[in-house]
Amino acid sequence: GSAATQFQRNPAYSVLNSDDIAYFKSILGENGVVQDEDRVAVANVDWMGKYRGASQLVLLPKTTTEVSKILSYCNTKRLAVVPQGGNTGLVGGSVPVFDEVIVGLAGMNKIISFDNVNGILTCEAGCVLENLSTFVENEGFIMPLDLGAKGSCHIGGNISTNAGGLRFIRYGSLHGNVLGLEVVLADGTILDMLTTLRKDNTGYDLKHLFIGSEGSLGVVTKISVLTPAKLSSTNVAFLSCNDYTSCQKLLLAARRSLGEILSAFEFMDHHCIDLAMQHLEGVQNPLPASPYKFYVLVETTGSDESSDKTKLEAFLLRSMEDGLVADGVIAQDISQASNFWRIREGISEASVKVGAVYKYDLSITVEKLYDIVEEMRCRLGDNAEVLGYGHLGDGNLHLNIVSSKYDDNILAQIEPFVYEWTSAQRGSISAEHGLGLMKAEKIHYSKSPEAVQLMASIKKLLDPKSILNPYKVLPQSVL
Ligand code: FAD
Ligand code: MLT
Ligand code: ZN
Repeated sequence: GSAATQFQRNPAYSVLNSDDIAYFKSILGENGVVQDEDRVAVANVDWMGKYRGASQLVLLPKTTTEVSKILSYCNTKRLAVVPQGGNTGLVGGSVPVFDEVIVGLAGMNKIISFDNVNGILTCEAGCVLENLSTFVENEGFIMPLDLGAKGSCHIGGNISTNAGGLRFIRYGSLHGNVLGLEVVLADGTILDMLTTLRKDNTGYDLKHLFIGSEGSLGVVTKISVLTPAKLSSTNVAFLSCNDYTSCQKLLLAARRSLGEILSAFEFMDHHCIDLAMQHLEGVQNPLPASPYKFYVLVETTGSDESSDKTKLEAFLLRSMEDGLVADGVIAQDISQASNFWRIREGISEASVKVGAVYKYDLSITVEKLYDIVEEMRCRLGDNAEVLGYGHLGDGNLHLNIVSSKYDDNILAQIEPFVYEWTSAQRGSISAEHGLGLMKAEKIHYSKSPEAVQLMASIKKLLDPKSILNPYKVLPQSVL
């Protein structure tokens, strides 16, 4: 597994014993202490089947007090812990490296309140994103984020990874949308930052430390989040471009002419489309006539059905006249729109089906963003297939390299080249997925030594015994 290749187990951590199990049963009851081999095995492996731990225990607390008791005990005994949400993370952060105790948040899935004047949702961390979407939509609002993993990922996991996703272009980062958090620190202290205020400049805004810290500083237990109003008209177009320069120009044109109604701008190269058609059931290429090089999904969301549609149609026509778009189609009904989205959201699923996937999630200026895909293709030749897709409107490329099985020679062709290239562009080696286990030792490609040292000081202050998500996020050398 991933553990043996990178690190030794830190011998300072205790090994779980029967007294520990008895204590956990005393606070959580039999149902909250999972030792069943099959269930534990599922929690030990990540969504890609790439990272595998050897934990023997999953704890399923139902309240913040239970989380606090678990952590207080683990801290005293120095038992290492992995917080786990929906286990859809893509960087090996959500599964143990060795025998860490898994603390699953799935049992904390209650909606606490909804302020339907201001659109403020307060809920527990283990709520599944899609369930929250359905709930707020019934109230006339939407979640400020959406991602392909919505059916499984938890809002607590989204916050812990600072997930970006498909609505980022319109509603921005969770650093802006999360209003308050309740977090349990490593020693069991419950930190109540669960405000629902829009404005609050009293001292340091501590919640931001936990947004994107991937379970390394505390366990998120409750959340309040701002939800935008649900607007009445949504339109989705699927377009093709003959070259990458046209995709860039199209983005600028969309920003200018669709303006405030633009709600998504996603791109994928034809390798992604081919893969999606091959591996996803029931999807159809909306533009099958000719093999284009690039495809773009544009979504608009506004409040005036006829003018929004007219705007999108005019944009499409002009873009075709200007030669930016080779062909395009606007979804005529919900099922066509969901087919467009299924293709885009299904690329990760399709990649995994090939066998092995090397995932890179890069922030790079839009002008340079596709250069790395082409360079990687030249480096790898026929040894693997290189896919480029992502959130173009946010300058976020998903560079995926797929092959039938994991191979160290392929990896050596990719790394450190991909990190060095990104660093030379002053890009980010993790735009939205986090560092997890995969990139803990690579943080220096995107952050200065001084910044990494300060992060290590914060980690030591909040988790002095380093029980929370060990081996992840920060390099071992600074801890
Ligand atoms: P997990 O995978 O369980 O955990 C992720 C990290 O957060 C781990 O380090 C874990 O320890 C920590 N954690 C989880 N819950 C808590 C908690 N309550 N308190 C403290 N720490 C916690 N990501 C994007 O940003 N944008 C996308 O568009 C996107 N699309 C995806 C599509 C697919 C098909 C898949 C499989 C993944 C996608 N992801 C995307 C990645 C992933 O879904 C997100 O990172 C998501 O936010 C993880 O949520 P989760 O509940 O599954 O967390
Ligand atoms: C996406 O945008 O599809 C995701 O972040 C998931 C992935 O890169 O696989
Ligand atoms: Zn993404």
